[in-house]
Amino acid sequence: MDTAMGGNLSKYAPIFLVLALSGVLFLLRNIHTLERWNCQSVSSLYQLQSSISSVFKPSGPFLPLDQNHSYCPNLGQEASGEEAHEERYLLESISWPEPPALGVPVRQSSDPAHSYFVIQPPTDISGRATWRVGGKLEVLVHMQNFLGQPKRYGGDFLLARIRSPEIGAGASGWVVDRQDGLYAVELPLLWAGAAQVEVTLVHSSEAVAMLRRLREERPDRVFFKSLFRSGFLSETTICNLCLPTGPRQPALCNYTDPHTGEPWYCYKPRMLDCDTRINHAKGGYKKHLLTTTESMLFLSSTIKAPVQALGMDNITILPAVKELSLVRRDRAKFLPSGYYYQGSWRPLAGIPIQQFNDSSAITQCLQGKLFYMYGDSTVRQWFEYLNAFVPELKEFNLHSPKNVGPFMAVDSVHNILLKYRCHGPPIRFSTVSSSELRYVANELDGLPGGHDTIVALSIWSHFSTFPVEVYLRRLRHIRRALARLLDRAPGTLVVVRTANPQKLDPEVSLYNSDWFSVQLDSVLRAMFRSLRGVVLLDAWDMTLAHPTHPHLLHPPPDIVKNMIDLILSHICPAKQEKKKS
Ligand SMILES: *[C@@H]1O[C@H](CO)[C@@H](O)[C@H](O)[C@H]1NC(C)=O
Ligand SMILES: *[C@@H]1O[C@H](CO)[C@@H](O)[C@H](O)[C@H]1NC(C)=O
Ligand SMILES: *[C@@H]1O[C@H](CO)[C@@H](O)[C@H](O)[C@H]1NC(C)=O
Ligand SMILES: *[C@@H]1O[C@H](CO)[C@@H](O)[C@H](O)[C@H]1NC(C)=O
Repeated sequence: MDTAMGGNLSKYAPIFLVLALSGVLFLLRNIHTLERWNCQSVSSLYQLQSSISSVFKPSGPFLPLDQNHSYCPNLGQEASGEEAHEERYLLESISWPEPPALGVPVRQSSDPAHSYFVIQPPTDISGRATWRVGGKLEVLVHMQNFLGQPKRYGGDFLLARIRSPEIGAGASGWVVDRQDGLYAVELPLLWAGAAQVEVTLVHSSEAVAMLRRLREERPDRVFFKSLFRSGFLSETTICNLCLPTGPRQPALCNYTDPHTGEPWYCYKPRMLDCDTRINHAKGGYKKHLLTTTESMLFLSSTIKAPVQALGMDNITILPAVKELSLVRRDRAKFLPSGYYYQGSWRPLAGIPIQQFNDSSAITQCLQGKLFYMYGDSTVRQWFEYLNAFVPELKEFNLHSPKNVGPFMAVDSVHNILLKYRCHGPPIRFSTVSSSELRYVANELDGLPGGHDTIVALSIWSHFSTFPVEVYLRRLRHIRRALARLLDRAPGTLVVVRTANPQKLDPEVSLYNSDWFSVQLDSVLRAMFRSLRGVVLLDAWDMTLAHPTHPHLLHPPPDIVKNMIDLILSHICPAKQEKKKS
């Protein structure tokens, strides 16, 4: 047997050799092709980027702002009827005053260092010059340019707040643009003690005009890419909500979502089919968006810069008076959604907040619940907080990439399930597998919902580089899905997180400015306010009002804890212990 075998082997050896050699040759040839294609796809990526840049490149330094948007003819289906009406209304409601002329010299733009604010005397009609709890503080901001001349028009983006760091108290103010270079700020007086007023110029009106132009004309300033792969071949191409097409451009792969109609495109790889898309990732940020002169409007010293007080920047707030008539006359017209006191968030409307300092209280509250979180990294923070703080919750390893997800944590003893999934394109995460790329609206349609279901959404940050219409359409699809969910399962608790201010520098401003965020945020609030069963979590105020933390895109644990307390207070409302007297 053995010898026969040996004989057979030696007889076939040349054939095996030939087979093995041709296999190696085939492999080598393919590796070579693979490398070649990789090189080509990289170089074509650069060619494409530069041609996209030239398509979008503004021809002069100062283009009219309301330029025709025809760069993107395929932004998805149009709204109709009531929704079209709503869209016009919403866009109108966030219209922002523009400088009267384009190309104002930088020295005539608003300068925080030359501007100042003045605390107005108390409005107490009794003549007592005192500020009391329950009243308001009025501040007038005078904007001036770099030459020290008063500004005569509005449009500056200002933020204001009042705070008492020693008692962990803070509240945001309401800024009214008088459109003559003056801004009236109203600050609610909600606690007694010494308090300091802070006015911040986020961007001058001239810088805002530039951001608006970028938003409308350079939606490609963050670009995306996808890897396509089949066998030994792989290619990477550029992707976006819309891409320039033409005889000199490659064909498109159309990934428009069949359910929602949300558009998404990639350039077609040369060798591969559109259905070989493996993943989706942020491609990068376009540079050199502004001319040297234009970039002078975005100096570190003028972005989120403090405006100083002329005279005092602090007041002493006295305890409230009993005379109701005085209080009423004095009361703030605009109340924020809440404020901080001793480091804890106190909502001014809605249900009272409870503090869940012990993880056991959280476990008790979440017992039997299914908690789904969808959106960007700011809602992923909630997953991370709960997962880290509650020892009974064990993260189930789905082998997902770090920071991308999807993620899941379970407490099988108390039947608690926590899930996180990122929203669909234009998500700017590192690399999301194509098979995990889902639209929130479609995910919501897949939830049965019910009294034991909690849904938390946070969708805003990754839309800042697109015209507002793109965001509006996305929210419309999500709102329709939420309405369906709340209709089939009215007990479902839905929490929608708003945007929040963040740290800005000259570069970040062009992609992620708070101005983009505040515009999207107004739309978000308006669209979800009217949907019954939806809780809006005011992350904007919870960040802006915080007495000591600077603005961070990802608010620190202390703020996240207050947010979680608020959500848990909605899941497990406090039992009414005593009747109101
Ligand atoms: C934009 O330009 C196209 C073609 O030039 C025109 O058909 C369209 O009506 C314009 N749209 C607006 C809003 O001006
Ligand atoms: C992409 O597909 C959608 C839906 O199938 C279609 O409405 C849209 O016109 C297509 N886009 C292009 C550029 O062909
Ligand atoms: C209040 O403002 C005045 C004038 O700017 C300053 O001298 C004083 O130290 C401030 N008081 C507090 C408590 O910050
Ligand atoms: C929770 O912790 C905060 C801060 O340490 C404390 O002020 C508060 O009284 C605590 N609340 C409860 C209900 O234990």
